[in-house]
Amino acid sequence: MTSDDIEIRHLTKRYRGGAYDRPALQDIDLEIPHRRFVSLIGPSGCGKSTLLRVMAGLTVPDHGRVSLFGRTPREMCRRKAIGLVPQTPALLPWLNVRQNIALPTLVNRRRGTSHESTDDLLRAVGLEDSAHRYPHQLSGGMSQRVAIARALGLRPDVLLMDEPFSALDEFTREALRMQLLELWQRRATTVVFVTHSVHEAVVLSDRIVVMSARPGRIHDVLDVDLPRPREREVVSDSRTHEVEGRVRASLRSAWSSGINPTELVAP
Ligand SMILES: Nc1ncnc2c1ncn2[C@@H]1O[C@H](COP(=O)(O)OP(=O)(O)OP(=O)(O)O)[C@@H](O)[C@H]1O
Ligand SMILES: [Mg+2]
Repeated sequence: MTSDDIEIRHLTKRYRGGAYDRPALQDIDLEIPHRRFVSLIGPSGCGKSTLLRVMAGLTVPDHGRVSLFGRTPREMCRRKAIGLVPQTPALLPWLNVRQNIALPTLVNRRRGTSHESTDDLLRAVGLEDSAHRYPHQLSGGMSQRVAIARALGLRPDVLLMDEPFSALDEFTREALRMQLLELWQRRATTVVFVTHSVHEAVVLSDRIVVMSARPGRIHDVLDVDLPRPREREVVSDSRTHEVEGRVRASLRSAWSSGINPTELVAP
């Protein structure tokens, strides 16, 4: 472990007044090596979004610490080094697609932060023809693509993506996966990617973190040693199916070790 890695130690997060008498995250220990692509997968409610929000500096943990390349999440935010694609795209309704995507770049122009061109970002997510539309005129998948483009704008060192492709049709999803891989290979970015799709996690990742609910814990960490670049042949390779089988088995045991409805308490 070096200061180039992401390191999470003994992380516990409890929401006050929640429906369960248990923390959302408990004693999370996780290492994410520099420039790796790591996916988080686990049952709904196991704390994946919470973990991402803690890493992004948006939520403060009760115990434990997060170090991103030797810095705290807040320091990384100040340096504009974190790109977050939230589970629900939060677009500004009075700005059109182009303006929403360009906003972080405009706000940080004076800092001289290096950035992607807005035209390149629009092209990358296939929204060139919708640049002048407003958020209320977009489908869910289009809004997700705007949020992805916006997060990439400032060339972040860490890209945190929370189910970014969940509202997309299979073909757009596959195309964006390939684009994301290409972009990740081109840039020195560490990606933490939340998904409910086993196939997606396997195709994209170097490492898959399986979480169990609840409290959210790390159940398993699986290395994906499929060759890169992950061309389309790799996607249907028998080795890919074998890794998917291992992830599914791990998820099944995470599920059975997780939530027990009899432990529900009144809020
Ligand atoms: N602001 C909040 N206040 C209270 N409880 C919360 C809050 N946010 C999340 N929780 C609870 O914390 C737990 C973890 O939520 P989180 O959104 O991190 O799960 P998740 O793994 O991302 O789920 P999903 O796969 O459905 O997106 C859930 O039980 C949720 O109800
Ligand atoms: Mg979530």
